[in-house]
Formats: sequence, C-alpha cells, structure tokens
Amino acid sequence: MQSWPAGSRTQIVLDLASLVPSAHRENPLAFRRFTRWLLPGLALLLAATVAGPWLFQVYWGRRSSNPVRRGIARAQALGCTSCHGHLGSSGVKDPGAESLEVPAWSGGMSMMYVRNDADIHRYILEGSVPTLERPAEGGGPPPRPAVAMPSFRSVLSGSDLDDLTAAFRLLAGMVTPPEGSPAALGRELARQWQCFSCHGPGGSGGLPNPGSFAGFIPGWYGPDFGDLVRTRGEFNDWILKGRNQRLDANPLAARFLSRQRIQMPAYARFAATDLDHLWAYTRWLEQTAGGVRSEEEKH
Ligand code: HEC
Ligand code: HEC
Repeated sequence: MQSWPAGSRTQIVLDLASLVPSAHRENPLAFRRFTRWLLPGLALLLAATVAGPWLFQVYWGRRSSNPVRRGIARAQALGCTSCHGHLGSSGVKDPGAESLEVPAWSGGMSMMYVRNDADIHRYILEGSVPTLERPAEGGGPPPRPAVAMPSFRSVLSGSDLDDLTAAFRLLAGMVTPPEGSPAALGRELARQWQCFSCHGPGGSGGLPNPGSFAGFIPGWYGPDFGDLVRTRGEFNDWILKGRNQRLDANPLAARFLSRQRIQMPAYARFAATDLDHLWAYTRWLEQTAGGVRSEEEKH
C-alpha cells in the first residue's frame, strides 16, 4: 500500500479501507477520489440530520410569519411586556402616575395617548414625553411618574418598528373590520369563544403546538390558512367537527394531526350564520393582511 503522511485524513480513511473489500484497494486512484468525497459527504449528511428539523422550522416560521405575530414576539423579547403586561393587557402600578399605572395597550386607554402611527413610532423611538410639571394640590412637590417609557431606538433592527406598531395597533383595538359588517360580527364571535387564545391575537397564529407539522397553531390568513382550508366546506368542517377530511385521508398529514398535542375543538352547535360571519372575518383578514393593510390605506 502507498504510504501517506501519518495521521492525515486520508490515512484514517485508508485504515478504514482495510475493512472494505479488496477490490477498492486494487484501484487506488479511484479509491482516493472516492475517499476525498467520503468524509465531507458524511459530514454534510450528519449536519443535515442534526440541523434539518431546525432548518425546516426556521423556514416554516418565516413562511407563515406576519407583522402582528413578529411584533408580539418582539414586544416580549424587547421587554415591552414587563411594563405593559402580557399582550399589553395590563400596565404595572405606578404610584406617581395620575392613573396610578402604566397604560395598558388594550382596554381602550391607548386612545388617550396615540392617534396614529406617528404617535406610536414616537413612543417607541423616543420613550416617555416629559409633561409640564403641575404643582400638586395642597402645594407639595409635583407628582412624578416612577416608571418612564425608555427610548428603544438603539435596540431596534430590521422591520421591528413596523412590526411593533402592527402588533400594538391590533392589541389596542385600532384594527377592526367596518362596524356592523359580517366580518365584525365574526370577530366578535371569535372573541366571545376565545378562538384567539389558540389562534393568536387577530388570528395571527404561531402559538406553540408540540408534535404538530409546523410546531405551532396556524393563523387565519396567509399561506397556512390556504394549505388547511381549500374550500368553504373545509372551513365549516374544521369548526363544526375539528377535522378536515382531505388531511385525514393523507397518511403523513394524519400522522402529524394525531401526534400534535393541541387539537382543534369541535364547535358542533355553531349556527350557519355564525360560520358565515367567521368566514367573512377570515376573508377580511386575508384581504387586509391581518388588518395591517386597511389601516395603511386610511392614512
Ligand atoms: C419601563 C417601562 C416601559 C417599557 C419597558 C415600555 N414602555 Fe411603553 N410606556 C411606558 C409608560 C410609563 C408609558 C406612558 C406614557 C408616558 O409616560 O409618557 C408608555 C406608553 C406607551 C405607548 C403609548 C400609550 C399606550 O400605552 O397606549 C406605547 C404605544 C408604548 N408605550 C409602546 C411600548 C413598546 C412597543 C414597548 C417595547 C418596545 C414599550 N412601550 C416598553 C412604559 C414602558
Ligand atoms: C384549543 C385550541 C384551539 C381553539 C380554542 C380553537 N382552535 Fe381552531 N384550530 C386549532 C388547531 C390545533 C387547529 C389544527 C390545525 C393544524 O394544526 O393543522 C385548528 C384549526 C382551525 C382552522 C383551520 C385553518 C387554520 O388556519 O386555522 C380554523 C378555520 C379554525 N381552527 C377556527 C377556529 C375557530 C373559529 C375557533 C373558535 C370558535 C377556534 N378555531 C378555536 C386549535 C384551536
């Protein structure tokens, strides 16, 4: 056998080669070529096996992503929720604030602070706006808020500002279908039955579902909805039966659907008009990309 620098990669492979049938060793050149690709090939295979599922989830997460979903995740990651509460639902107490608390995003309070995107951007970029200090009643020192909103300008990147704004607007109830429309009735129904608790605020999706194909519960607009709901009949079936016959008949899909920990409940007693309204709401979400586009057009 030819001699190779001891300890080299090829040496190791040739040592291994003594284990394979001699035919390979009789044509060293071809074998060398083969071994040159063997290790990188094995490494690639190993990397694909280890990183594959992770890469898939990253890809799928991006494919299904939308501004509201990203904004909610960013609000959590940037610490907004520490002061404004989970999904902006309750501000922390502040002994110095007039209302004695940091404003929540939801619950209608935000209308007092922000009227449009520019106002929202200003809060996020600049933080609290100092107000003129009024002397306290009785002449004592003026009350000072203990909690001020910091400026986030230096920690934002990419689409953060737009995403946070989209999430804020949705959670603050600034993004709704036209009043009294079937879509608005559908949204109201979804609120009553707390569908958003699983399907995300405004049907934005993305909440965890271990064992499922994508790893999360789908939203009501975007590519996932299109995959899962091809027809109005399929939409009705999901809601009334918690299932979809087409996916049940597909062995791979059926396997994931049975493995996933959270299943779609069957709302068997919903009336036909309820389904009409819910459908209208999902159409409105699709047309406005979750409400984001409709607001942009208004400005
Ligand atoms: C340290 C606490 C704190 C953090 C963290 C914080 N805020 Fe605030 N935020 C406040 C306070 C206090 C106000 C009230 C306005 C003022 O004091 O000027 C406010 C007001 C707001 C307002 C306008 C009023 C409303 O609530 O409707 C928006 C919008 C807002 N914050 C968004 C955000 C976003 C987005 C983040 C994260 C990127 C964030 N805040 C993080 C304390 C905080
Ligand atoms: C306990 C969590 C949960 C609740 C509550 C819930 N769903 Fe679902 N929903 C799911 C899961 C899980 C799926 C299955 C999709 C998948 O994983 O493939 C699903 C699927 C759907 C689908 C199919 C398409 C899609 O993209 O979502 C529709 C439509 C739907 N649900 C509507 C509703 C409505 C309307 C309500 C409220 C009346 C509701 N869901 C409440 C968990 C839930």
